[in-house]
Amino acid sequence: MAVLSCSFTLSPRVLNPYSSFECRPDPDFSTAPIGDKPRLASSRRVTASSLYAGGISSRGLSSLIFCFPPNFVRQLSIKARRNSSNIGVAQIVAASWSNGPAPDSPFLAAAASAQAAAAAVNATATNDGAAVEGCIDNGSVQIGGSDNSTTTFLSSDGSITVHAGERLGRGIVADAITTPVVNTATYFFKLYGVMFHVILLQEKRRQSFKYGRYGNPTTVVAEEKISALEGAESTLIMASGMCASIVMLMTLVPAGGHMVSTTDCYRKTRMFIENFLPKMGISVTVIDPADVDGLEAALNKNKVSLFFTESPTNPFLRCVDIERVSKLCHSKGALVCIDGTFATPLNQKALALGADLVLHSATKFIGGHNDVLAGCISGPEKLITEIRTLHHILGGTLNPNAAYLIIRGMKTLHLRVQQQNSTALRMAQVLEAHPRVRRVYYPGLPSHPEHEIAKQQMTGFGGVVSFEVDGDLMTTIKFVDALKIPYIATSFGGCESMVDQPAIMSYWDLSQAERRKYGIEDNLVRFSFGVEDFEDLKADVLQALETI
Ligand SMILES: Cc1ncc(COP(=O)(O)O)c(C=O)c1O
Repeated sequence: MAVLSCSFTLSPRVLNPYSSFECRPDPDFSTAPIGDKPRLASSRRVTASSLYAGGISSRGLSSLIFCFPPNFVRQLSIKARRNSSNIGVAQIVAASWSNGPAPDSPFLAAAASAQAAAAAVNATATNDGAAVEGCIDNGSVQIGGSDNSTTTFLSSDGSITVHAGERLGRGIVADAITTPVVNTATYFFKLYGVMFHVILLQEKRRQSFKYGRYGNPTTVVAEEKISALEGAESTLIMASGMCASIVMLMTLVPAGGHMVSTTDCYRKTRMFIENFLPKMGISVTVIDPADVDGLEAALNKNKVSLFFTESPTNPFLRCVDIERVSKLCHSKGALVCIDGTFATPLNQKALALGADLVLHSATKFIGGHNDVLAGCISGPEKLITEIRTLHHILGGTLNPNAAYLIIRGMKTLHLRVQQQNSTALRMAQVLEAHPRVRRVYYPGLPSHPEHEIAKQQMTGFGGVVSFEVDGDLMTTIKFVDALKIPYIATSFGGCESMVDQPAIMSYWDLSQAERRKYGIEDNLVRFSFGVEDFEDLKADVLQALETI
């Protein structure tokens, strides 16, 4: 039986196989703060030794327990902080059982040990509420500094992208630098009081992984990284950006309700809002991204549950004044969700600006390597829990291998985005000055209708530039075909530059007149600048423009 093997793996005899996992202890980040962010007081931190001093050493724990790999010791400390371990307590119990004075009844002694250990853990954890909240721990692979103490020594987004969700909280086999991919469809429960723990789980009095659709340790790391960047209490990551927006919409807009969205947006999002939400009796007001009066009128006329918009939008990179619309919506009881895919969590902090939720197609800049599809939504725990509840029913789970690619991709998010911001801005200026370009859409240009708003709420303008070349459909095809560096493909935000002609790539099923209703002209080009060298990209675009 699987559960029985659990206690045996903890006996001193079988500790030897773990020796290859031995590792150096983590550096102690509890003192000498780096940066000026608040941190957990070290007096509130629970250490393995404090555990031993409490419930365990008094039970005559022999030195054998100190032969446990340092990872294990570290796990105890983390588990204590999290107040959510089953194996942590079980391991201590097993060790004290096998190493302590032989009791008459091993089971009774173990049970008493478990109580003592649990009491020690509970007592300290109660004092450490901030660290406990939101943690998930199945007591197997330890993932994530989910107490967000990770971020206390990371003072900038660049450091957060690299370390958030991974440092401190993780006692990983072999002390690997990288987060392991936990390929499991479900999770088993450990021996001690197994049904008791399941009951606690069912009653939400402890958190634990239970089934793959409800969560995965690798996926949690990706979620925590995004939460740290967005300044969000919680993040839910899913199989795609569309999955994230649909689950969000279905959760937050009640049947028969009303929502507001904007004219310019990703076509599939619009299709869902316009074609599928009405099947649930949901009506929609669609406004121009700058039309705050239109938003106010819609709020006054209807009981609006949600204002959902991209900012910047796809493909015209229109920007919504997030602070202003959030205040307005909140005064009327409506929620605001911003699809910040084009902005990235680095260039724009939608939650800090007042939005309730921020959503991304993580397929784009967040993943950044054109090798994975994912979507995420971040916000307050309460709202994310509501969305998570429906997500757990619908599925749309992100595979842990995909979550790993997101984590790896995010390590360089700040570097990529810096480069892409810079290249896109410089290329937008080059294009705007070029005689064979009719119009450029980029929020970093003073000619952009929401340039002032973008300057206020963004720290960079993103890596995508849309523009109209001076010509018709065929001229534009000629230009696109003449480009040598970018792939002709329908995505953006990755290392590789990509170019697409929306009239053909995304709107070809519509007539030219219908496309025009959405502003999609035949000569429109959407160019996602990758991380290639600026001069190479510039030379390539200029030579392609020479061909038309
Ligand atoms: C702004 C925006 N949001 C959401 C999506 C959907 O994301 P995904 O392709 O990951 O489903 C896209 C796709 O291009 C997008 O551009």
